[in-house]
Amino acid sequence: MSRSHLFALTPLLIAGMLQGPALADGLTPKEQLGKQLFFDNLSDPSRVSCSSCHSPETGWTGPVAGINRHGGVYRGAIPVRFGGRKPPSAAYATQSPVFGFSASGRPSGGNFWDGRATGEKLGNPAADQAQGPFLNPVEQNNPDPQSVCFKVMDSDYAQLFDEAWGEPLDCYEGLALTYDRIGLAIAAYEASSEVNQFSSKYDRYLDGDVELTAQEAEGLQLFQDVRCSACHRLDAALPLFTSFGYANIGTPRNPDNPFYDMDRILLDDGTPINPLGRDWVDLGLGGFLATRPDYEDRAMENDGKYKFPTLRNVAKGFGKGFPKTYGHNGYFKSLEGIVHFYNTRDVKAVCPDNPKTELNESLFTSEQDALRMDCWPEPEVNRNLTAGIVGNLGLTPEEEDAIVAFLQTLSDGFEEVPRGPTH
Ligand code: HEC
Ligand code: HEC
Repeated sequence: MSRSHLFALTPLLIAGMLQGPALADGLTPKEQLGKQLFFDNLSDPSRVSCSSCHSPETGWTGPVAGINRHGGVYRGAIPVRFGGRKPPSAAYATQSPVFGFSASGRPSGGNFWDGRATGEKLGNPAADQAQGPFLNPVEQNNPDPQSVCFKVMDSDYAQLFDEAWGEPLDCYEGLALTYDRIGLAIAAYEASSEVNQFSSKYDRYLDGDVELTAQEAEGLQLFQDVRCSACHRLDAALPLFTSFGYANIGTPRNPDNPFYDMDRILLDDGTPINPLGRDWVDLGLGGFLATRPDYEDRAMENDGKYKFPTLRNVAKGFGKGFPKTYGHNGYFKSLEGIVHFYNTRDVKAVCPDNPKTELNESLFTSEQDALRMDCWPEPEVNRNLTAGIVGNLGLTPEEEDAIVAFLQTLSDGFEEVPRGPTH
């Protein structure tokens, strides 16, 4: 090997030695730190990590079949405590812009179903978001940023913090900066190619490597014809299946949401988690806007609206038949069910008695039952409903199935089935 080659190699080798085996997966030190933080049980008591509610195997959302069959809402570190919403995918969320309104008054961006992790603090909604769960009493339940900092300091990956930021953790005078860097490292991991993979069958199809089946191709065409793509946009080079806008599609209440029982469960200060009990209504974006003096005059017109979720990985689970749950409150128990809802919301009657009050388990566990329903319950918020583009699409059952087949091409980690031995 010539001298110049040796010279060229040296910086790489040194970098390799400094960063050690941690870099085996191709992540930068900051992303690697974020990954450790994401999968560590940084909770009080120590049993819940970000991945407890955002697991890669299920498309970075909830991985527990028994929970998905019911409320779709995950327990926090204190197991009797629940929040009121289903975990959306933590993947592709980093691409959401800072929350705001367009000149014509349309809201977009932010993280969470209601955008309240706006990104105003750290310039990045996902980083703002990542600081929340550690301290949320219904999630990781740490009392303060300092206790999170101490846990990271005691961890076996603490040295990654130095490598990522060029300075060690400081849980005292530098606590605020350290805590910001924890959020930014998690956001860096969430933005990495390990989380935002763009490795689905659909991506391979866009690259010209594989073909869609006739049914999947029909589904893709229908997805555009009936304008699912107006909100779940696919016109970018790397489509995200969302424009991060907001709408109320009319999702009914999910009677199985454990949050309705949180009037009986108290926080450490003695107040109930949900003082309203079953009377609680999730106002979505409007609820968040009402908390902000600069936005409160726009709250009412946004009641019931939720951020368009990405559709990447919607079908990803532990094999066929693994139950997943859709919509902000997990009302829909299958892709068949939610596509049928889009097709027939305004065609079927409104159920006279909300079938949810008399909870019929099979109604919510089996997609067949959802399809057989001859009525839909009232929307959770019966205002600001999206009309026209949603509710009466005139699709046949075969066309609904084709859309579902297309949605199933959006799962990351697609591998072509090996063709068997060749000779
Ligand atoms: C107990 C379950 C739970 C834990 C633990 C949890 N999350 Fe979440 N996550 C949720 C829920 C529920 C939401 C939606 C909340 C809302 O909209 O109000 C959410 C929302 C998000 C979003 C927003 C996605 C989007 O499209 O807007 C991201 C990103 C995210 N979580 C990442 C994390 C990270 C990082 C951690 C760890 C620091 C974490 N979550 C811990 C349940 C959890
Ligand atoms: C007007 C904008 C809009 C249109 C059009 C639209 N969607 Fe949605 N979609 C949303 C919103 C908002 C949600 C979240 C609703 C909620 O939480 O209540 C959503 C949720 C979903 C989900 C659940 C994802 C999850 O992770 O929970 C799927 C699947 C979906 N839409 C597929 C479709 C399909 C298929 C079409 C076309 C038939 C379509 N959408 C048309 C805005 C839209």
